[in-house]
Amino acid sequence: MSCLVCKSEIKPVISFGQQPIANGFLTPEKFKEEYFFELKIGWCPKCAMVQLLEQPKPEMMFNENYAFFSGTSKYMAVHFEKFAHTMMDRYVKGPNAFVVEIGSNDGIMLRHFKNAGIKHLGIEPSANVAAVAKKEGINTWVRFFNAETAKEIVKEYGQADGFQAANVMCHLPDLHSIAEGIKILLKPTGVVAFEDPYLVDVLEKVSYDQVYDEHMCLFSATSIQYLFNQYGMELIDLEPQVTHGGSMRYYIGHKGQHKVSKNVTHYLTMEREKGLLKAETFEKFYHDCEKSKTDLMNLLKSLKEQKKRVVGYAATSKSTTVINYCGITPDLVEFISDTTPIKQGKYSPGKHIPVLSSEKFSSNPPDYALLFGWNHKAEIMEKEKKFTQGGGKWITYVPKVEII
Ligand code: TMP
Ligand code: ZN
Repeated sequence: MSCLVCKSEIKPVISFGQQPIANGFLTPEKFKEEYFFELKIGWCPKCAMVQLLEQPKPEMMFNENYAFFSGTSKYMAVHFEKFAHTMMDRYVKGPNAFVVEIGSNDGIMLRHFKNAGIKHLGIEPSANVAAVAKKEGINTWVRFFNAETAKEIVKEYGQADGFQAANVMCHLPDLHSIAEGIKILLKPTGVVAFEDPYLVDVLEKVSYDQVYDEHMCLFSATSIQYLFNQYGMELIDLEPQVTHGGSMRYYIGHKGQHKVSKNVTHYLTMEREKGLLKAETFEKFYHDCEKSKTDLMNLLKSLKEQKKRVVGYAATSKSTTVINYCGITPDLVEFISDTTPIKQGKYSPGKHIPVLSSEKFSSNPPDYALLFGWNHKAEIMEKEKKFTQGGGKWITYVPKVEII
């Protein structure tokens, strides 16, 4: 397989084995027909990015039953509000300002543009989440973004001052069509701002659970620069984010239109120094993942022998990779507590651990809560003070397996 950015040959890194669709929470009638594929990643030695070596068809992942609603975390809501205001302060301003967001989900970010009276358009392929946004009066088209879509947007609304995406670019295998679309869509002074889990964080935190069906790529600044340079665009700034356990926000403009921040050279150099272009770095990652798996399974098995009750906390998409790679079955984790109504009463993809409401967690607290939502740790710890104060313990596996 060749690199989605630069077409060099991809070097295999690790296989996480047979995996189901990460957001494919299901009912028992569907167990028999559940879809599996081999989740394995490779690394590009030329542009320093990691990508899936096989991806299920987009229709398998983003459909009318898509279970992911952005609006479920308070912290994320605040994060997107700030993101929107950063764009309005810097780039999306003036009387005819126009912003486009792809993967706009339930409108968690665009609502702030709408409230500010700014012309906006969301492009969202999942009809059920888009419906939530539309109901709120957020202008949304149900479809995928590519060069064709960009042309239609320009025809209907003109070129954009801002193009945004959060945790979306990493989902898209056809990066060249996206970049081409952006080039068409963006005004000469327009700016792209998107954020995604950052490869350096994944390697350092051994957060291999960022790898799942939807996450086609794990980007670095090096790979993003490489991609957009091919379309006459360049990185103009970078801002690390704490979201999703470590993300990077990339700001990109047409070449020569913006002052390039010192951060750009800083991160490109740092990535080189951290070995993103060296095979050893990815060999180490392989061993770190295998160790994480062994440590977590030893802990869960030992707790089972001690007759302790363990419940999973938050049925995150990421947890699907951990559960299926490690082999976590319902005899080790009794159920997963989750606040999303459409996940409740269903079973986790692959290993079929029941998903129950957070009331079930509070009313019958376990001895240990396995923190599948480790990236929401601050929010969860604050919410679950009573559990912790009552002697409940937490298990995490990022950056290492431990009881906290
Ligand atoms: P994600 O990490 O894939 O975005 O999934 C977040 C999931 O975590 C979502 O299903 C809701 C759940 N969740 C809880 O159950 N309790 C919480 O306190 C938080 C923050 C999230
Ligand atoms: Zn490459």
